[in-house]
Amino acid sequence: MIVKTAKSLLVATLITLVAAATVSAEPFTLAPLPYAADALAPVIDKETMQIHHGKHHQAYVNNLNGQVATFPDLAQLPLEAIMSRMSRYNDAVRNNAGGHYNHQLFWQIMAPAGQGGEPSVELHAAIKRDFGSLVALQNAFNQAAATRFGSGWAWLILDENNKLVVTSTANQDNPLMDVVEVQGTPILALDVWEHAYYLQYQNKRGDYATAWWKLVNWHKVNELHRSATN
Ligand SMILES: [Fe+2]
Repeated sequence: MIVKTAKSLLVATLITLVAAATVSAEPFTLAPLPYAADALAPVIDKETMQIHHGKHHQAYVNNLNGQVATFPDLAQLPLEAIMSRMSRYNDAVRNNAGGHYNHQLFWQIMAPAGQGGEPSVELHAAIKRDFGSLVALQNAFNQAAATRFGSGWAWLILDENNKLVVTSTANQDNPLMDVVEVQGTPILALDVWEHAYYLQYQNKRGDYATAWWKLVNWHKVNELHRSATN
């Protein structure tokens, strides 16, 4: 009986150890797109979505998992917490944790055209207060997207004073990182890497940014604004 109990304990311990090793080896995973790959067409074509999600985002996830052996705390922290202490890590974590967070957000704040709803009363009031109108916000945001040199992102964030601010970041940086100049909580994000639009729009980043507003999932943006508001 004692032998059997000891054996059971050993098996249970081994299962726990294997499970822990599995978790810590690859804690980051790629969630499926929340819609079909062709659901955002004609604004964003199916092939772009498939490559963007299945190849680019997957590569950020794989590369981030590759850093866990060097920085085991990555496996224990929510992505947002990793961002807020980014200055402790190397460029590989900065690029790939940023890439994972940014794309995860990007897929969620888009929806097929006509299904995204509209800004909530609260968000609309905040947009009016901080930009004057939704059109003025869109102009400022598109300007940030157009003038971000090279690869990066345009953002609408809520800053520490509950003010909506348009900003942009280079590469896979984002406003949650302690290493970027303008910090805040992302409400809306636009990927302006060429991999996000080049097959369809070639060099016309401005046309992509303008058309992209048809895809904004205001239901999700409203939720992000609500939870970020102090
Ligand atoms: Fe991207």
